[in-house]
Amino acid sequence: MSFDFHSQLVDNYKKLKYSLLEAQTFSPQHYGFPPIYYKIMETDAVRVGAFQKAFEQYDFTDKVVCEAGVGTLALTQHFLDKVEKAYLIENNPDLRAFIEQKIKEKGWEDKVVLLFGDAMQIELPEKVDYIVGELMSIYCGNEYQVQIFKHLRQFLKPGGKLLPERIVNVGQLAYAQFDKYKHYPVNFTRHLPEQLSLQTEINTIDLYTEETLRIEKQIDLLPNMSGKVNALYMHSFVQVAEGCNFTGTDSLMPPTICKLEQEVSVKQGTPVTLHVDYTYGTDLDSAKFWIT
Ligand SMILES: C[S@@+](CC[C@H](N)C(=O)[O-])C[C@H]1O[C@@H](n2cnc3c(N)ncnc32)[C@H](O)[C@@H]1O
Repeated sequence: MSFDFHSQLVDNYKKLKYSLLEAQTFSPQHYGFPPIYYKIMETDAVRVGAFQKAFEQYDFTDKVVCEAGVGTLALTQHFLDKVEKAYLIENNPDLRAFIEQKIKEKGWEDKVVLLFGDAMQIELPEKVDYIVGELMSIYCGNEYQVQIFKHLRQFLKPGGKLLPERIVNVGQLAYAQFDKYKHYPVNFTRHLPEQLSLQTEINTIDLYTEETLRIEKQIDLLPNMSGKVNALYMHSFVQVAEGCNFTGTDSLMPPTICKLEQEVSVKQGTPVTLHVDYTYGTDLDSAKFWIT
């Protein structure tokens, strides 16, 4: 049986090269994500597990929590039993009936305040102990994680915690095939790019303090291989809480290939400069990376 499935997968590898990108693409037309992406997120025990570990590490008992972008409550259901009160924010109207029904079924109505709207504008009536929000995309390039936490952190009690709290974006020089999109996540290892340098830190986001939305910098890199470079191979490492880490899977921040402005040739051991210019919560298609 499993051999049959694998055989079908092998036959479809090529067709599936961009299916993850297409499932994850945030679109105002469908108010966010299509149902398949919620299914990918809900079934990802690695992603959900990193948050569960953090919920257990902190004490959520009788606390007041705000969660932004609750989706289908994949994370919420792991802390809601314990807390005293929860402000749950979501702006995808297609999810409203599902969320209301689930809260009713579980008997959470008395402790939940459901806020349908944009988490970047919502005002909370009190300060909270924890702010949870998984609105991440690779490098925080597409979604509004940074903007949302920048707005909501004014409602955090002194000593309160953000989950997640820190994101380290790293990159490698790479050479990839581009035939359709300027950037795409790696869906299967056969779609990995050729990698010509080790991972280098591009920038680190401290969600308690981040103010700047546009990242403009130059980074020196040492190629470990000689060859042509036309891409940045991107990973984002997430610290949900100290010791509770998540380093990207198909459901969240999958390793992603992004086209450079120009193809260049590099030589092993000869340093190059990577220029970075991108803005959180825009679109990786408008991000600019180039080598001199
Ligand atoms: C990546 S999904 C995560 C869903 C859920 N937290 C989970 O982990 O399974 C992000 C969710 O945030 C919602 N969202 C995105 N931008 C938002 C905003 N500005 N205000 C409120 N919700 C938002 C989306 O509709 C989506 O349901």
